[in-house]
This record gives sequence, C-alpha cells and structure tokens, in this order.
Amino acid sequence: MLEGFQSVGKTIQEIVTKRYTKGANIVQEDLCCPVSYDAQYLKIIPREVIEKDYGCGDPSQYIKEGETVLDLGSGTGKICFIAAQVVGPKGKVIGIDSTDKMLEVARRNTPIVAKKLGYENVFFKRGLIQDLMTDLDYMDHLLTEKPVTSAAEHMDFINNQNNYKYKKPLIPSNSIDIIVSNCVLNLVDDRQKNSLFHEIFRVLKPNGRIAISDIISDKVSPLHLKKDETLWGGCISGALQEQEFLQILKDIGFQDIILEKREEKPWKIIENIEYRSVTVLAWKRDLDKTQIVSGSATYKGPFQVVEDDRGNQYQRGVAKNITLDTISILKSSPYEHLFHMDIRANQNRESAQKKSNPRQKLTTQNKCC
Ligand SMILES: C[S@@+](CC[C@H](N)C(=O)[O-])C[C@H]1O[C@@H](n2cnc3c(N)ncnc32)[C@H](O)[C@@H]1O
Repeated sequence: MLEGFQSVGKTIQEIVTKRYTKGANIVQEDLCCPVSYDAQYLKIIPREVIEKDYGCGDPSQYIKEGETVLDLGSGTGKICFIAAQVVGPKGKVIGIDSTDKMLEVARRNTPIVAKKLGYENVFFKRGLIQDLMTDLDYMDHLLTEKPVTSAAEHMDFINNQNNYKYKKPLIPSNSIDIIVSNCVLNLVDDRQKNSLFHEIFRVLKPNGRIAISDIISDKVSPLHLKKDETLWGGCISGALQEQEFLQILKDIGFQDIILEKREEKPWKIIENIEYRSVTVLAWKRDLDKTQIVSGSATYKGPFQVVEDDRGNQYQRGVAKNITLDTISILKSSPYEHLFHMDIRANQNRESAQKKSNPRQKLTTQNKCC
C-alpha cells in the first residue's frame, strides 16, 4: 500500500497533515459524516470549533464524571471541550493531534472554554497516536537547541529522544480511564496500526475502556484504493474491515468488546465496498487470577446461552459460580442488566480485605457468626 505513496515521495503522514491543515484553515464539507452532539454541551464551545467538525460519531456519550480522558486525533477540540464539561473540575481531558494548525485552533480556544466553565481541565499535546510516548513539541525543542546536520548528530538525537520518552512519556502507561476517538484511527498508516492499538492498550488504566467512532468497511480495500491520496485523507481507504477491527482489539487483549453503533446506511460506497461509521466500546480488564468463587450469576436471557471474551458461558436461568473480579464486571456496564447476582455474604468483607492488603489470600469461609 505504502509503496505507491513512497514512489511519489509522500508518506501517509504528509498526506494527512496536508489535508487536515486545510481542514483547520477552512471548513471542509466533504470530510466525514454529519453528527449531532448533545446540544447542552455545545453552548459554550466557540463556533469555529464546532464548524470544523470532522467526526463520524459521538464517543463523548460514554465519558463519566471525574474521569481522565484521552482523545486521539482531537482536531479543533470539540470532543475534548464536551468531555471537559462531563468530567467536571475533578476530571482531566487530554487531546492529541499531529497537525499544527488543528492544535493551534484547539489551544487558542482552550482559555475561552475554560473561562466559560470556570475551570481549566483540557490540555492539547502534539504527538502521533501510534506513538504516545513521544512528545513532538519537545522533539522540536531538542532540534532547535541542537539541529541535526550529520549522521553522528542524528544518532545522538535518536538517543536523546529515546531517553526522554522513557523518562517523560507523552502519555504514561496505565494513566487513562477512557480513550475516545472520532474518525481518526483509519488515517494511520496500515503498517503502524498494530503499534497504534498497542499504545491504546498501554496507556489505559486497568479496567479502563475505549469508545471509538470510526469508519470501517465491509470488505478489505484493494491496493489501488489504498494508494489514492484523496481517499486516504478522506477517511476511506485506511478504514479497517469490520471483523478485522474487532479481531485486532481482541488480539491486543481487549475484552467485553461491543459494536455499540453501526450506521445502517453506508457513508460512502466505492467499487461495491460499503464504508460506514461505527462506535466500538471495549475494556482493558484486570482480572485476579485467584479464581476463588465468591457468588453466582444467573443469565436472564433472551438468548439460550452467551459466552464472554474470557470464554465463560452463561446459560439462561442457570446459576454459574463466579469469582470476585467477575462479580465486579457483571455488576457494572455493559452487563449490569443481564444477570441476577447472588453474592456470598463474605464477599464484601473479602473485597475490603483485598483492598487493604491486596496480597492477602482470600478465603471462601465465612468466619462471621
Ligand atoms: C477526521 S479529523 C477528526 C478530528 C476530530 N476528532 C473531530 O471529531 O472533528 C482527523 C484528525 O486526526 C488527526 N490525525 C490524523 N492522523 C493522526 C496521527 N497519526 N496522529 C495524531 N493525529 C492524527 C488530524 O490532524 C485531524 O485533526
């Protein structure tokens, strides 16, 4: 796929930067599908930000108060400014984008939104979403201080870059409650999509989750479409095939993956390939390996049997013994309405014990009289 671009001397990143620099300067009508956001959150967002909306869904709906949110490919900042209101003053929102012009619009509007809110909790950072370790603003600073003019200096720079990114990663590991993204993942070079998903998984806290709206295709896009600059920049030919997208998430280690929204009508049909918007939710679970039974869950139905991403099968109406971790998963989103729970009397005490001393072995014996 990339050979086509390289032969004309362009990389995917250059194509994307050119396209979205234009999109930050003047509203582009053809970039991504129209989306309606919750009007209550749009009131305080400057018009320029709302007009330069290049999303294809609304992942902000899945954010909760007090959370730390990361928006991949934040553009002019609309989802971040919505998230700022949802998480409130105790939460924090980080937007990452690689296009200077997009960041310029987002950063210019940050104090305007903060003033209206009465607090500032949104921060925009320059980086590539497939490398959430490297702070591109800092790389610029390094290069300004010491420009690279020889291979030896280049090696020196790489060394400094590596030292810095491990000492001070742009986004530290296990630091984010929820990652949102609106029509961006498809724009990443296919060869870097694997590292993109690894990075997403790395920065999420245990039990953190993703809410990603993106364009997917029903069939794999052929090479000649992938070589088309306009189609790539327009969120078409870099789109992952639907099942491939879900499988990548599973392979990376995500669980409880949900195809939350799937537009019935394709956004575009090109050469009989349907490109449509979807929103996917998935969790990075942190499961205790102790496997001590702490209660049971009875699946309500309507299916006769269901199986989760951990391989647990639940038959309708049949109580299944479950561990403490599974209890906490099934009691909360997205499972909270699907099961009747029977939690053992000692479960709460065990939970408290576990919190105060996580290494302490749990016991199933109820020592209370
Ligand atoms: C289709 S626009 C979506 C913008 C925004 N999410 C919205 O809803 O309006 C894609 C955005 O992703 C950014 N982008 C594309 N590839 C990127 C990458 N590899 N790393 C960081 N940002 C990227 C572009 O600069 C642009 O701002």
